[in-house]
Amino acid sequence: MSSRILVVYFSRSGSTARVASYLADELGADLDAIEEPRSRAGIGGYLRSAFEAVAKGLPTIHTRRDPRDYDLVVLGTPVWGGTMASPVRSYIHEHSASLAKTAFFVVMGGRGGDDTVREMQMACGVGTRPSCVFRQEEVEHDRDLARCEDFIQRIHGGAIGKASPARAVG
Ligand SMILES: Cc1cc2nc3c(=O)[nH]c(=O)nc-3n(C[C@H](O)[C@H](O)[C@H](O)COP(=O)(O)O)c2cc1C
Repeated sequence: MSSRILVVYFSRSGSTARVASYLADELGADLDAIEEPRSRAGIGGYLRSAFEAVAKGLPTIHTRRDPRDYDLVVLGTPVWGGTMASPVRSYIHEHSASLAKTAFFVVMGGRGGDDTVREMQMACGVGTRPSCVFRQEEVEHDRDLARCEDFIQRIHGGAIGKASPARAVG
């Protein structure tokens, strides 16, 4: 029987959502957006987002699906201030016990992607997991997203170990 996979993401301006949707299609996975009661639109939303990222804030979030119902979670975030977006930090905070079998993707303007992956792994209490870092400018077209084929293969191929924290599986 094939694994049940959940792709979960937060996106303020659409690029992480685009990658998440592509990955869910390719993986045959369910898709869940992290949503918030309060809008992050405009300059006020931008500044609040930047502040929360640096302060490691934990805003209130809502999701529709329960990661405990899945064999594997693929978690995606934009890079904010060199780290994960605060709603994704909230998600990990709420569900860390269910995130041992997780892969990660991040979308950035230009810097901080690898550090963000490392921080997400640490926050989930896991070792190295499959990950993929995108620049915002390269997620506009499906042909650009096709470069994450290796990432998809590693997820499909079971390159994600069972729940042993700090065990590097590449
Ligand atoms: C508050 C804030 C902080 C950001 N900080 C960074 C950063 O440190 N490094 C970077 O490469 N991009 C940064 N960006 C750009 C986003 O990572 C990039 O635009 C990303 O594609 C947004 O994803 P989204 O469209 O899914 O919201 C930042 C964006 C916001 C809103």
